[in-house]
Amino acid sequence: MQISMTVNGSEVVSDIEPRVLLVHYIREVLGLTGTHWGCDTTNCGTCVVLMDGQPVKSCTVLAAMAAGHDIRTVEGLATAGTLDPVQQGFMEEHGLQCGFCTPGMMLTARALLDKNPHPDDIEIRKAISGQICRCTGYATIVRSVQWAAAHPAGAVADVAATDEVLEGTDTVIPDVADAEVKA
Ligand code: FES
Ligand code: FES
Repeated sequence: MQISMTVNGSEVVSDIEPRVLLVHYIREVLGLTGTHWGCDTTNCGTCVVLMDGQPVKSCTVLAAMAAGHDIRTVEGLATAGTLDPVQQGFMEEHGLQCGFCTPGMMLTARALLDKNPHPDDIEIRKAISGQICRCTGYATIVRSVQWAAAHPAGAVADVAATDEVLEGTDTVIPDVADAEVKA
């Protein structure tokens, strides 16, 4: 069957088998391997992506069910080569260890902050409660989200505003948003 959807701002069209899960479509067809695949049983949350701005576990969504929707993966968090404040927060507050849970955690954090720019500790913990960090770094993950909430424009803009020098804020990453469908 043929499906089309928007992924990180680009429209993609593919011929797929109806049984293909969204996580496999994203990783294997689109080549966006930042979306991780863990338990495959809806438990760990490492496969979380945003569908129309809402976190979904992509191992429990058929790719066909995402047709016509707007999908955002971790590769779509940075814009114009500048890290999202959530990414900067994870960097500033050491919100990752092995990094396996990190893409899903960051996307859930982005969805939370889009809806609630000033979440308290409980609201952050509730938002990520469906996701497991095998390294058990929850305290630093919560602090990372708090950092992003406190710096909604990101560290670069804050440096300009406050004339402070923050290390690592000029990080520029390649633009990987333009995923081309090859299948
Ligand atoms: S791989 Fe989807 S919830 Fe674990
Ligand atoms: S940082 Fe290792 S699983 Fe979360």
